[in-house]
Amino acid sequence: MAQPCIGIDFGTTNSSAAAAEADDVRVLELDAANDNPTSLPSLLYITAEGQAVAGREAADTYIARNVGREVELKQVDLGLDIEGYVGGEPDKSEGYRPPGDPSAAVREAVRAKATVEVNSPGRLFQSLKSSLRLKGFKGTDVFGRHYQIEELTALLLRAIKERIDAHTGADVETAVFGRPVRFSERPEEDALAERRLETAAELAGFKNVVFFYEPVAACVEYAIAMDRRQRLMVVDIGGGTCDVCVMEFGGAAGAAERLAESRILGVAGVPVAGDAIDREILRAKLFPYFGSRSRYGPSKLPMPQYVYAALADWQNLYKLNTEEIMNWLIASEMSSDQPETIRRLRTLIRKNYGYPLARKVEQAKKTLSFEERARIELEEEGLDLHVELERPEFAHIIEHTLDEMRHSIEEAEKAAEMRPEDIDLVLTTGGTSLIPAVRKMLEDRYGSERLLQRDTFVSVASGLAVVAQYM
Ligand SMILES: Nc1ncnc2c1ncn2[C@@H]1O[C@H](COP(=O)(O)OP(=O)(O)OP(=O)(O)O)[C@@H](O)[C@H]1O
Ligand SMILES: [Mg+2]
Repeated sequence: MAQPCIGIDFGTTNSSAAAAEADDVRVLELDAANDNPTSLPSLLYITAEGQAVAGREAADTYIARNVGREVELKQVDLGLDIEGYVGGEPDKSEGYRPPGDPSAAVREAVRAKATVEVNSPGRLFQSLKSSLRLKGFKGTDVFGRHYQIEELTALLLRAIKERIDAHTGADVETAVFGRPVRFSERPEEDALAERRLETAAELAGFKNVVFFYEPVAACVEYAIAMDRRQRLMVVDIGGGTCDVCVMEFGGAAGAAERLAESRILGVAGVPVAGDAIDREILRAKLFPYFGSRSRYGPSKLPMPQYVYAALADWQNLYKLNTEEIMNWLIASEMSSDQPETIRRLRTLIRKNYGYPLARKVEQAKKTLSFEERARIELEEEGLDLHVELERPEFAHIIEHTLDEMRHSIEEAEKAAEMRPEDIDLVLTTGGTSLIPAVRKMLEDRYGSERLLQRDTFVSVASGLAVVAQYM
């Protein structure tokens, strides 16, 4: 049976896939449990028994099983269980090591002692795509089994592949994968991320993987239908990256010719998007509710930064749940000038409310795309959190993030040797492009009549499928 032409957009927050056949591009349903079934939330839950759950079900399972329950952490001395060395040289090897490879037994020195959750039913992973570029993050232990970052990513990609296979009735081995213009601003990190994604795709069963820029894919469908030559800019702002691409497209006789004759004139990108905006909201609006501005002890000391760094990254918040830190929090609460905030912080950590909080923040941000104000509320016992955020304040909070995005846009123009007035049309896509302050930044530069919003969540996957067809 002929293999269908498949495009896969493995996103930081959402993943989607499409199949192209003749003139038809079909976006595939990847997650029946999700509000939008053509998007699979890029979430992975691994149970203590080693079972992997992907998508909306991963989030639901985590909330049902892990949230509201007290985590018990234990420091275990891995001592002699470690193969290789204990506390010696850090592991400088790079890349995925297949199980069985003797060098795969070499572990990082930190494993000599590990903090493990003794009673946890499972772990949730979010934004794995953003970790692909981090050289220092090779993987993590999940209930005694070490998962390399490639394996974690492969678990998600395998779930995607199973659903693609089911829809197409084929064992799909060839696919065009999207990639951001820049996984990272550092070339070596960028190359590492692509290599890891390729390995993950292979582990998931894809034998032939081709990468294609996500923002270029986002404009393919529009551009191949165009009978006159145009200079397009695509701005794709998702969960992890802001990607900008200036292209020259269209005018030739048929779709294949238009694609073949297209030219990329300039690209730019930064790993700053929706996740970074969520963190800004947390920092500005919620940290104070958890004592970031409080003082404790006779010398009126400020609270240590590491606590709030962990709060900004809920996936690691559980690590604060040690007896030592909990006792210290109880002590600092007694001498705090804002004891109620420290108590709240302790409840948040102890009861594992980091993820529900992150979800509320994200939801409030989305609400602000359609309404003037939003509330962030968590009524769980001991938290009682009610925070209001209005659009102007939100725009102010994310000013710095917007500057970084604007900078990328200017950089892409510069690379293409163009001024804003030389660009015929600016196509926007990705969830973060819906934020009014982001739209205003683009309108100020190009005028609203030159902005065209493409399908927010599936334009990249559809374009990749079209590309697969002509490759
Ligand atoms: N209505 C909305 N208003 C503001 N932000 C939104 C809205 N809907 C979704 N988002 C945000 O958009 C991001 C997800 O967008 P998208 O699905 O395009 O990203 P992605 O493709 O997964 O990420 P990337 O392309 O960076 O890898 C998330 O940060 C999400 O919170
Ligand atoms: Mg995207």
